[in-house]
Amino acid sequence: MNIVLFGAPGAGKGTQSTMLVEKLGFVQISTGDIFRRAIKNKTDLGLKAKEFMDQGKLVPDELTIQLVDEVLVGLKGQSFILDGFPRTMPQALALEDILKKRDLVINKAIFLEVPKDQLVARLSGRRVCKGCGAVYHIDSKPSKSEGVCDLCSSEVVQRSDDQAEVIITRLKTYEENTSPLREYFRGKGKYFELDGALNADQVFKNLKQILSS
Ligand code: AP5
Repeated sequence: MNIVLFGAPGAGKGTQSTMLVEKLGFVQISTGDIFRRAIKNKTDLGLKAKEFMDQGKLVPDELTIQLVDEVLVGLKGQSFILDGFPRTMPQALALEDILKKRDLVINKAIFLEVPKDQLVARLSGRRVCKGCGAVYHIDSKPSKSEGVCDLCSSEVVQRSDDQAEVIITRLKTYEENTSPLREYFRGKGKYFELDGALNADQVFKNLKQILSS
């Protein structure tokens, strides 16, 4: 079972993907995480991606598609989640070619629906561990000791693109580029919708139902 998990910034894609990895053995492919690792390691890809991510804009399709093409090698036989890809129509169309080439299929595209005011609250309150990447929230999921990761004791910080003005651009970018993919997947007969405003455990319960339907 291979899925696309999509939705606005802060909809909970990363949170649900982590649960799918831990509880059901999925492989998570998050383009955002890959870009952030590349930035941390100061690679060419990271340098190119950083200028777009810092502004809340999308990394150009050409770079992103090439990245996913490389990452999808050797996944046959494993269940994977595409978390945050595709995000534009050109990416969706390129994905069709990549999947065909690698003899892979996407079985379901699952959209996480969350009202805008909740998205803003989630993004502005999100904190992430600099070491292991664990995700927290100052209100709904604080670390036990402020600024320190429960799992690896590294520093917990705010993501640079979770600043208020960047959040506004990210949400606008999402509306313009990614929201139309709902119709694209609906047309493919693979579209499923989840109420992402419920608590994370309830969303996961409903997600599992979709996976087994
Ligand atoms: P990416 O990292 O993918 O960011 P995003 O899509 O903006 O999504 P987020 O990671 O912000 O949110 P999420 O949905 O994973 O929510 P999370 O689970 O963390 O991309 C970053 C950037 O990389 C992009 O802006 C772009 O520049 C570039 N990029 C990436 N992919 C690209 C592509 N395909 N093409 C071009 N550019 C690309 O949850 C958020 C918070 O809410 C957390 O604090 C969490 O604890 C909390 N939370 C989660 N679920 C719940 C719940 N059910 N109830 C209450 N709180 C919850």
